[in-house]
Amino acid sequence: MRIVHVASELFPYVKTGGLADAVGALASALADKGHEVSVFVPGYRSVLEHSGALQAERKHQLKIEVGDQVLSGEVRAFSPRPGLTIYLICRDEFFDRRNPYGAGGRDYEDNADRFIFFCKAAVETMRVGEFQADIAHGHDWQAALFPLFLRDAERRHGGTLAVKTVFTVHNIAYQGVFPAATFGRTNLPDELNSMDGLEYYGQINFLKGGLLFADRVTTVSPRYAQEIQTAEFGCGLEGVIQSRAGDISGILNGVDLAVWNPAIDPLIPAPYSAADPAGKKLCRAELLKRSGFDPKFTGPIFGMICRLVEQKGVDLVLANRDFFVKQNCRLIVLGAGDKRLEDALRQLVADAPEKVSLSARLDEAMSHLIEAGSDFFVMPSLFEPCGLNQMYSQIYGTVPVVSRVGGLMDTVIDADDNPSFGTGLMCLPTAAGLRDALDRALKLFGSRTRYGDVQRRAFARDFSWAKAAAVYEKLYQDSL
Ligand code: ADP
Ligand code: GLC
Repeated sequence: MRIVHVASELFPYVKTGGLADAVGALASALADKGHEVSVFVPGYRSVLEHSGALQAERKHQLKIEVGDQVLSGEVRAFSPRPGLTIYLICRDEFFDRRNPYGAGGRDYEDNADRFIFFCKAAVETMRVGEFQADIAHGHDWQAALFPLFLRDAERRHGGTLAVKTVFTVHNIAYQGVFPAATFGRTNLPDELNSMDGLEYYGQINFLKGGLLFADRVTTVSPRYAQEIQTAEFGCGLEGVIQSRAGDISGILNGVDLAVWNPAIDPLIPAPYSAADPAGKKLCRAELLKRSGFDPKFTGPIFGMICRLVEQKGVDLVLANRDFFVKQNCRLIVLGAGDKRLEDALRQLVADAPEKVSLSARLDEAMSHLIEAGSDFFVMPSLFEPCGLNQMYSQIYGTVPVVSRVGGLMDTVIDADDNPSFGTGLMCLPTAAGLRDALDRALKLFGSRTRYGDVQRRAFARDFSWAKAAAVYEKLYQDSL
């Protein structure tokens, strides 16, 4: 199949969260299966500066209609491996910035224009480049209008740009909601400016477009596919999701074992595996050292890596301040984002500098070291579409402590509920729930054999992307 992906993040070129990992790994896994895969991504500064993208060649000059303006852009392309071509949509005014979405805690004011331009430019490149795709697949709100622009371009110019469209929602909490006047910037037919289209409580909702008009809709775990049909998790779009219930599937993300694999990970100080776990001790010592602690500390290390946003349950960790201050353990956090959460974590570090450390930045190498060197990985998300770190943790022999929501429920088995199968500890997404799980973690760590059993089962989990890619492949084939 000829498969086109459109996404605003792509590992290793630009990443703020799991979207980058998921799209990067899915594209590669589909190429492995012999499909011809193209991925469109904005030519952000970080992408153009990435060593892997320096070979990108200028392909087309584009003129894109955005409202009553005609904006110029350029598309560059390169092929990092057989079967995969990456197209960079470039326009310095929009994408030559330090961050993908905003700065100083605020979204960029021109985000609607930026991502309308991006999606239209992807469609225009497919048209002038005669792509004739089987599947056109957009991800998240930034690419939610892509299926609509694609059908609109077919209507205007004739011909078929893609046989079927697929849209994946990685997180329904981010919808791309803009003032009503934004509709004019899309140049879509007026009938879409209605309740049955993009209109959403007097505003325009990009995500709603993708959810309503793609031929198939997917999300990133079976559990989340159910959850988003409810008012509790649907973020106001549960009705829209329900209206597509027959066309929605939840496909669990996988782990890219070329990137997240302790046996070959170049970002950790010593390789290790279930069969030969000695290296994990060295990773542990290095993690302690880099976090400013005594490398000989023998108590449990709790690691945490996340975007600092409410979703990730950082407040539940903060509410358990006493636990981390009083118990003989270490808490090592890597996270960037919300200033309030960062300040609160800094305060926790100030209260117990000998026990808690915070790296408030994006740091890919540190994220691998935390996965490898910790004994437990703390992820008490309030909601979690899929979640990747709890899977990485298991593969790295690090026992995840997670809440009972979304993809976490599909990927972790509680060791107290299931003594023979458990791979982690699970809790309700409340402060008391987390406290209970942390207490159980201490107990588990206190029993070498029991901790060892849970760790061994975690190590043995198979989250390979090949499995997930086969499910996408089947979905594509069924839709065709
Ligand atoms: P989400 O996509 O909601 O952020 P996921 O668990 O799906 O959550 O994926 C998060 C990804 O982002 C993981 O690869 C994780 O290691 C990475 N990540 C999050 N915060 C940081 C950080 N501060 N530095 C480096 N990587 C991070
Ligand atoms: C989103 C979700 C996360 C998921 C990731 C990749 O960012 O928050 O749960 O793992 O997308 O699909």
